Amino acid sequence: MRAFHELFRVMSRPAWAEIDLNAFQHNLQVVRRAAPTSRVVAIVKANGYGHGIICAAKALPDADAFGVASIDEAIQLREAGVKQRIVLLEGIFDADEMDLVVDHHLDLVLHNQTQIELLKNCTFISSTGVSSTIAPPTTITVWLKIDTGMHRLGVAPEETASVINQLQKLSFIKQPVILMTHLASADELDDLATVNQLECFNKTVCALDHSINQEKSIANSAAVLSWPESHVNWVRPGIMLYGISPFSGKVAGDFGLKPVMSVKSKLIEIRELVKGDTVGYGGQWVCDQNTRVGVIAFGYGDGYPRHAVNGTPVLLNNKKAPLIGRVSMDMMTIDLSGHKHANIGDKVELWGKNLPIEEVAQLSSTIAYELVCGITQRVKFVEN
Ligand SMILES: Cc1ncc(COP(=O)(O)O)c(C=O)c1O
Repeated sequence: MRAFHELFRVMSRPAWAEIDLNAFQHNLQVVRRAAPTSRVVAIVKANGYGHGIICAAKALPDADAFGVASIDEAIQLREAGVKQRIVLLEGIFDADEMDLVVDHHLDLVLHNQTQIELLKNCTFISSTGVSSTIAPPTTITVWLKIDTGMHRLGVAPEETASVINQLQKLSFIKQPVILMTHLASADELDDLATVNQLECFNKTVCALDHSINQEKSIANSAAVLSWPESHVNWVRPGIMLYGISPFSGKVAGDFGLKPVMSVKSKLIEIRELVKGDTVGYGGQWVCDQNTRVGVIAFGYGDGYPRHAVNGTPVLLNNKKAPLIGRVSMDMMTIDLSGHKHANIGDKVELWGKNLPIEEVAQLSSTIAYELVCGITQRVKFVEN
C-alpha cells in the first residue's frame, strides 16, 4: 500500500501551490501596525481568496473576526472550530438562512430594505422544531451598510436614520448596530472619490442620535495602508493578508508584505527548435533563431492566465525565463535561451515568494485577486 502511495506521489502531475502559513501571521502584523487601534475583520471569502478558507482562518488565530460572502463559507469555518465573529458581508439572500445565522452565531450585513423586511417577518425554528416569531435567545449583530458612493450595495445616506429606527424595534438585533461602508477607489490615491466617500460617511454618522456609541467600519486593504482616517473601529483587509499589493504598479514587498501563495510546476519537456519553427496552438510564436524551448505542466486549466503575453516571466532555477506561445489548458512554453543547463524535472515558480504575482497579473491584463481566486481544484495545495 505504501509503495503504491509513493509511486502515485512520484507519478502525480507537478502542479502545486505552496501556502506559507507564517506569511499570513506576518501580514496580519502589518495590518496591526498600520491600524493599531482598530480591530480586524480578516476577509476570507471566495475560499480565502483561493488559498483555502479554513487554512486562512486557522493561520490567522489572532484576527478579531472573519468576513465571508455566504452562509456556506461561514458554516465551513464554524465546523472547523472557528470561534471568532463571522460576518456575512452580503447578509442573507433568503429568509430560510436566518435559522442558520442564529444557530451558528453569525453577524449580518444589512444593505437594503428587502433584507430589513425579511428580518421583520422572519420566524425562528426552535431546537424543538417549533416555529415562532419570538426573538431567539441570542441577539444578532448587524452591520448596516451605507452606500456612500460605490453604488453597489448599501442604504442611501438619507435613509440611514429611518433604517436604524426600524432596526431598533426588532428585539433580536443587538443595539446599537455597527455602521459600515465600502470604498470604491481607495487604491487610487489621487482620486477624490475616497475623500468624498469618507466625508459622506462622517456626515451621515454625525447626523444620527447617539452616533458616538456606534462602532464603524470602512477600510479595505488599500485604505488600511493609505487612508488612516478610514481605520475607525474595525478594518476589513483582504488582499494584503495574502501578501499581495492592493495598488497597481506596486508589489507586496513595497509594503513589507510577504506573499502567502507560491504556485509551482516543473519542466516536463525540452525541445531544440530551429529558426522558423512555431510553438503551440495557432503557431503564434515563431522562433527567430534556433531556440531551446521548455514545456511546463501548468496551464489555464490550473488557473494560469491564458492572456499572459509573450515575455511574461516564470522563475526557473532562480532566474527568469519568458513565456512564449499561447498558454494551453495543461501546459505552457518558455524560451530556455538563457538556461543552457535546464533539465526536465527542474522546478518552476509561476508566481509567489520569488516572482511577484502583481507582475504576472499586469502582463495578463488582470489583477492578482483574480489569479489567486482562479487556481483550480486539480492543483495540489501544500501548507508549510
Ligand atoms: C465589504 C468588503 N470589505 C472588505 C473587502 C476586502 O478588500 P481587499 O481585498 O481589497 O482588502 C472586500 C473585498 O472585496 C469587501 O467586499
